[in-house]
Amino acid sequence: KPRVFSAMQPTSDSLQLGNYLGALVHWVKLQDTHDAIYGVVDLHALTVAPDPAVLRARTRRTAAQFLAGGVDPTRSIVFCQSHVPEHAELAWLLSTFTGFGEAGRMTQFKDKSAKVGESGTNVGLFTYPVLMAADILLYDTNVVPVGEDQRQHLELSRDLAQRLNARFGEGTVVVPEPHIVKETAKIYDLQEPTKKMSKSAVSPKGTIEVLDDPKKVAKNIRSAVTDTGDVIAFDREAKPGVSNLLTIYSAIDGRSVDQLVAEYEGKMYGHLKSDLADVVVEFLTPFHDAAMEWIESPDRLDSVLEDGAARATAIARPTLERLYDKVGLLAPM
Ligand code: TYM
Repeated sequence: KPRVFSAMQPTSDSLQLGNYLGALVHWVKLQDTHDAIYGVVDLHALTVAPDPAVLRARTRRTAAQFLAGGVDPTRSIVFCQSHVPEHAELAWLLSTFTGFGEAGRMTQFKDKSAKVGESGTNVGLFTYPVLMAADILLYDTNVVPVGEDQRQHLELSRDLAQRLNARFGEGTVVVPEPHIVKETAKIYDLQEPTKKMSKSAVSPKGTIEVLDDPKKVAKNIRSAVTDTGDVIAFDREAKPGVSNLLTIYSAIDGRSVDQLVAEYEGKMYGHLKSDLADVVVEFLTPFHDAAMEWIESPDRLDSVLEDGAARATAIARPTLERLYDKVGLLAPM
């Protein structure tokens, strides 16, 4: 079976709807056809200086949400990045193949460091995409399901893989393919529908936190910014707000955007928002309950992560040793 790898950072108590629809939904589907590995990338989260106790809690909560969303730990590997030290080891190796300028061109780094200023940023934020490449290459990954915002990072992973293959021979590492599903690749903020929905949005009303109180979720949807005019149509340029709502609706409900547009012909924006609020709340309720069950049984959760770490290590260790050998590191006696 081809292998799929993906991961999320434990940087919030709840995933937002973009993480869910842009990534998690596709992770769950790919389990049927792929050998799947899904990580909580706690080492990546260290780049934003989290409070230690909060980081620990969020690491468990993030794993709980993978499971609640349908990742099946009996088939797929669910693990915590820091439990498999090979990630950090391969990141070092890959950093010696990454150009300084190449890393500096990563737009997420440029955006984040511009926000905090040069003195506020850290080297980890700069090398972040190299650690991400290590995550992927360590498992000879074929497919990486992510949202649009990770496209450039994935391109770096591919460049690094191709560079290693050119230097040490074809087949040294697998060159990963992005799996970015067009319809849900970018879910937008409800208040500023030209910006992506994110955990760090300016207005909390623009984000749907999937573990939030259903009343608040519904309220945020009902107060979503729509566009001038009164026709419900899909047009990203002219009607970003309505288009985003239609995208979310279609992703959850299964009907196509065209079908929804036909169905809402002659109806008002308010109708669409109120129906969508119901649909989202209904969708999130069982997820919420399942996530809470996992969060309230940390021992059960930890044993999933322990099992995941062992299975991940069994794949990661031989890959790292193979690459250490290729680059000329002396094997330990
Ligand atoms: P993270 O934790 O920021 O986001 C997790 C996943 O959610 C997707 N996503 C979105 N998709 C659609 N619309 C949105 N508004 C939206 N916001 C977030 C992201 O694209 C991502 O797929 N660097 C990664 C974590 C990572 C990783 C990896 C991913 C580390 N190593 C290896 C894949 C493979 C990140 O910060 O994702």
